Amino acid sequence: MSITVVVLAAGRGTRMRSKYSKVLQKLSGQTLLRHVISTARAIEAQKIIVVHGFQGEEVISSIRDHDITWVEQQSQQGTGDAVKCALKQIPQSGQSIILYGDVPLIQAKTLKKLHSSSLNNERRNLSMITIHADDPKGLGRIIRDENGKISAIVEEKDANEYQRHIKEVNTGIYCVDNALLHLLLPKLNNDNAQGEYYLTDIVALASKEGAEIKAVDPILRFETDGVNDRVQLARLENKWQRYMAQELLRQGVQLADPDRLQIRGHLACGQDVFIDTCVTFEGDCTLEDDVIVETGAVLRNVYLHAGAHIKAYSVIEDSVVGPNAQVGPFAHLRAGTRLEANTKVGNFVETKKTTLGAGSKASHLSYLGDAVIGENVNIGAGTITCNYDGVNKFDTRIEDGAFIGSNSSLVAPVTIGVDATVGAGSVITKSVEPGVLAVGRAKQVIVTNFKRPAKTEQLSAFDLLQSDIAPDAPTEADPIEAKPTETKPSEGERVDTPEHPTENKPEER
Ligand code: UD1
Ligand code: CA
Repeated sequence: MSITVVVLAAGRGTRMRSKYSKVLQKLSGQTLLRHVISTARAIEAQKIIVVHGFQGEEVISSIRDHDITWVEQQSQQGTGDAVKCALKQIPQSGQSIILYGDVPLIQAKTLKKLHSSSLNNERRNLSMITIHADDPKGLGRIIRDENGKISAIVEEKDANEYQRHIKEVNTGIYCVDNALLHLLLPKLNNDNAQGEYYLTDIVALASKEGAEIKAVDPILRFETDGVNDRVQLARLENKWQRYMAQELLRQGVQLADPDRLQIRGHLACGQDVFIDTCVTFEGDCTLEDDVIVETGAVLRNVYLHAGAHIKAYSVIEDSVVGPNAQVGPFAHLRAGTRLEANTKVGNFVETKKTTLGAGSKASHLSYLGDAVIGENVNIGAGTITCNYDGVNKFDTRIEDGAFIGSNSSLVAPVTIGVDATVGAGSVITKSVEPGVLAVGRAKQVIVTNFKRPAKTEQLSAFDLLQSDIAPDAPTEADPIEAKPTETKPSEGERVDTPEHPTENKPEER
């Protein structure tokens, strides 16, 4: 059966008090319009028509990744006029489901129910989603005849006192035979309180045509909530977040507090996953069995293998974390990071486009960018891959079993061979052979007769001006005065090294 979806999205949404179109506001990390389009895709609509108006260009460019028929409504003369603008694009047969761009959380299941209620029928059909509202203010009222059959929708501004007391209201979501739409839309007029072409008037016209008109309930209550201002947007966001959290709990995920979880996208979880408070998931995230995510973590497009443990306040983007790997606290894995099994990335470590082989560790304070790191490598605290010369990026390779001493700078492109050792504090600019020790740092000097500077009388700025001491002239207390000639080798100093080892010549032991 062929379904066309028509989405009305031409309105500005003045009550949002935003410079952007209402349908571009975000709920759960996605624009309102994208939610509706994704649902239209989920019911396998043959054609999706979006009626745009205010900020049309921005609206169109926000959904470039979907095949959409765009129709412009130049001046907004009402919901009926909006669908009329799309009429040429609506096929003559099949059904159309009409959705609003500002009712973002309508679910595919409910639309399928709506669609099937309009099938198996000899007569032309119009089905619509209605709800019973405690406070029907501002909504179109459903008018039923003496037999309980729907005969019309009356907008609040046009309703009489009796009609205003009706609690059954129009949600604005319909499934209509295309033949009926083609027949009735040209018959709409704007003879009403708002001087608009009301789409709702097709109900009375369809009733006169002898069409079958049915009402369907939404499966979830908030599905038909519209967003007109930021209060409604925040409220709907909250309802949606709580709903997603309940779904996770039902699937067996343990949440420290279902009221303090944010999912902006899609989260899939295995068994016995534990998610602590205030964790944010964005994009597509998958957590396999027994994953633990501690408080404050922000995870965007991540795949966490079984048993991975993300410690507090870590940020991970576009990355894969291997089985039983540990990350954080306070780690930042940027796009293209791949941690293999049993790896450890500790606090204040940043990675980017980097693979860390099984069993390797970078436990503290490092930057690892554009690096391929083998298995069982130890990256000492403060190690930096210097991957950028201001113009180009270069790769660093650290092979299996290598040991990088703390506070080393590896100036890429560079390779550290299998089982090689880099002495702490080294600046490594040339590749290191497997198995050797590379040390690239200034030689230690011991000054035995060194005297700490003594406190001198503080001179005022005026005194300084008066005196003939130049401000940067060395004073007696300046430690650079300690002359190498005054030094004696001590136990800590190696005597078998050349007098002036060059930066790139490793010292020999
Ligand atoms: C509409 C219904 C009302 C229903 C309510 C549910 C009509 C006449 N009334 O009222 O019965 O209870 O929705 O939320 O249909 N739009 C256009 N072009 C226009 C006018 C509107 O594209 O010329 C779009 C808006 O961008 C919005 C949607 O249609 O996405 C609904 O329009 P809105 O003005 O908000 O209708 P309501 O007054 O809420
Ligand atoms: Ca509305």
